[in-house]
Amino acid sequence: MSHLVFVETSGSGVNAIDYAKQAGHTVTYLYSPRYDFTASPHQRRLARKLADRTAEMPDVRTPGDLLAALRAAGTRPGEVDAVLSTLAFCIPLAASLADLIGVRGTPPEGVATARDKGRCRRALARAGLPSLAFSVVGSEDEALAAAGRIGYPVIVKPVLGVGKGATTIAHEPAHVRDHFAGLAGNLDHLPAGMSAHFDERFIVEELAIGDLYSVEVASDGRSFVPLVSTIQKTGLHNPVLELGCTVPSGLDGAAERELGTYATQVCRTLGLTLGIFHVEMIRTARGFRLTEANPRMAGGALPETVNAVADRDMFATLIDLFLGQGAPLAPLRLSAAVSHSLLAAAETTTVRGDLAPGWFDPFLDRLHSGWVRLEPGGRVNAMRGNFDRFGMIRAVDADPVRAEESCAAVKADIERCLGIPLVPEAGHRSPWPSGPVRSA
Ligand SMILES: Nc1ncnc2c1ncn2[C@@H]1O[C@H](COP(=O)(O)OP(=O)(O)OP(=O)(O)O)[C@@H](O)[C@H]1O
Ligand SMILES: [Mg+2]
Repeated sequence: MSHLVFVETSGSGVNAIDYAKQAGHTVTYLYSPRYDFTASPHQRRLARKLADRTAEMPDVRTPGDLLAALRAAGTRPGEVDAVLSTLAFCIPLAASLADLIGVRGTPPEGVATARDKGRCRRALARAGLPSLAFSVVGSEDEALAAAGRIGYPVIVKPVLGVGKGATTIAHEPAHVRDHFAGLAGNLDHLPAGMSAHFDERFIVEELAIGDLYSVEVASDGRSFVPLVSTIQKTGLHNPVLELGCTVPSGLDGAAERELGTYATQVCRTLGLTLGIFHVEMIRTARGFRLTEANPRMAGGALPETVNAVADRDMFATLIDLFLGQGAPLAPLRLSAAVSHSLLAAAETTTVRGDLAPGWFDPFLDRLHSGWVRLEPGGRVNAMRGNFDRFGMIRAVDADPVRAEESCAAVKADIERCLGIPLVPEAGHRSPWPSGPVRSA
């Protein structure tokens, strides 16, 4: 049996720790309270309970600090087989610890290239892969000049980190100025675990127009395989907000292959040679264009959405990959379609005080699965980024159209029941296929 070190976990990534334990492996889990905001208190406790050894990471500045945390957990580097993380913020730490102690992990160079959105686009350009016009800037003046060169509309995003809270779509110079003027206020709203990852740089990019897709690309160091692709639900009024996804993607065979091939080429080019990577692309009139290559598996509800209809478990696949075990890599086979939607408030508001304890149960009866966290009379914040949701609903059906429709119908009824305006989803632009899902 093997020994895995998790440097933090996403909420759903607790399932990876669970699988590792069920498979008989030893788990050391390093955590930090600064990431408590990324999961429910139950998930945070469960991760620590499942692990054999745990230690809190103090303010980690170097891989050496992390090594000290590992030793504090009672784990010697010599007994470790692999180091990984499922939490975006801790991927560089996990990669650097694996490298320092010479065990299996995602290569730090690949992680650094993928995370830095400018470096990532330069690598794509060098490899001759399709990309979007961009410029990395350090000031408002540079951003205005870059937007003028690229041509409006553009999107301005932090070069590093999970950046939706500090991202602006600009149709004219005034929007670029608003972005910089609002920055300090926007950053104040973000937890330190999130804002500490930004630096002073922004990337100004050509705004890609089209549906947003994602692919989970698996790499075992030799081959790159598109495990599964999704079509993403984005905000109607703010397309930067991600509101759920549907599997399968609804693309026809040729487009699905094009998407998978592009996503794997991106991972190969960036040097993401061990792990599962969440690659996001927009289908423009000129073809698929990368928006972001995450050097980690998808967080949030996506992995469990895929698991609801796939022949293999995403978390098991991840652990087996990091340990060099398991079946050879192949795309997942799907037995049905599945769709999930996040429940998030369009504006900051107060929850009904008369909400009965079992109010969600009749909705759950119409779904495959779901959850809500709402206190009667409590406050819900307007959605600004990935972590501002108060619930998730998931529907399974014979085809992606019906799975999405079931999800949308339940979401509309929940909105009526709560009397809280939810962030509305934009419709897809692509025509949707009908008929039941056929296994790949
Ligand atoms: N060039 C672009 N053109 C159009 N839309 C874009 C572009 N870049 C990003 N977006 C939109 O903004 C969203 C957020 O951008 P991106 O994924 O780069 O940042 P992020 O906040 O780090 O994301 P994540 O939370 O997935 O880590 C994307 O999911 C996409 O909907
Ligand atoms: Mg993204």
